[in-house]
Amino acid sequence: MIGPQHRVIAIDGPAGAGKSTIAKALSVRLGMKYLDTGAMYRAVTYEAMLRDLNLDDLENIAQLAVDCDLHVGLDRVIINGHDATDAIRQADVTANVSKVASNSGVRKEMRIRQQEWATMHGGGVIEGRDISTVVFPEAILKVFLTASPQIRAQRRVEQQGGNVNEIAAAIEQRDLFDSTRSDSPLAESNDSIVVDTSDRTIEEVVNELETLFLSRLSHGNS
Ligand code: CDP
Repeated sequence: MIGPQHRVIAIDGPAGAGKSTIAKALSVRLGMKYLDTGAMYRAVTYEAMLRDLNLDDLENIAQLAVDCDLHVGLDRVIINGHDATDAIRQADVTANVSKVASNSGVRKEMRIRQQEWATMHGGGVIEGRDISTVVFPEAILKVFLTASPQIRAQRRVEQQGGNVNEIAAAIEQRDLFDSTRSDSPLAESNDSIVVDTSDRTIEEVVNELETLFLSRLSHGNS
């Protein structure tokens, strides 16, 4: 049976590898929906911080994730009725998100919501850290985006400002935490296409992924 996973393009990779830019552009090109799963973990982190909760209290934070009313759209992130679009990108949320994302209760709930989202939309372009490995292991196309640490830090500085050395150190720390956690760490799956975006334009990468996706669809390779 062809399930919603058949039409999922899973895009994983570390911070600053170009996931959001490429995933959004690809979704527009293919007329598919787009989901930023990092924004979901960021929103839960933001809400926990807003309520001054202890992020080490695993059960309480997992319960918050289960109970929250969360909408992650193309342009806006709404949690429990308030717009957190800008707030979830602030440095204090970025500094704490990996801890919240390592909470298995939070991950379980986010995974369920991501799978429900794909069922509702008949698939989509979905970006994150564990999309190929855990959330959609049957995705028709799995992509692991990388770029050199210097380029990734430079991109973040261009987006958000700041000192390049400090940003590079913060990214390195978060990537280490994300790739060494026990529950669904950041990793390539053995059938992912690895794309280094360091010296390639967005257009080139989107073209390559579009061609791959269309060829797999036409060959029924799911
Ligand atoms: O935009 P950036 O690459 O900096 O990060 P993000 O995609 O917004 O993700 C923020 C954090 O959420 C990551 O550092 C991970 O800790 C977590 N995350 C995750 O654990 N699993 C996902 N599928 C997506 C994000």
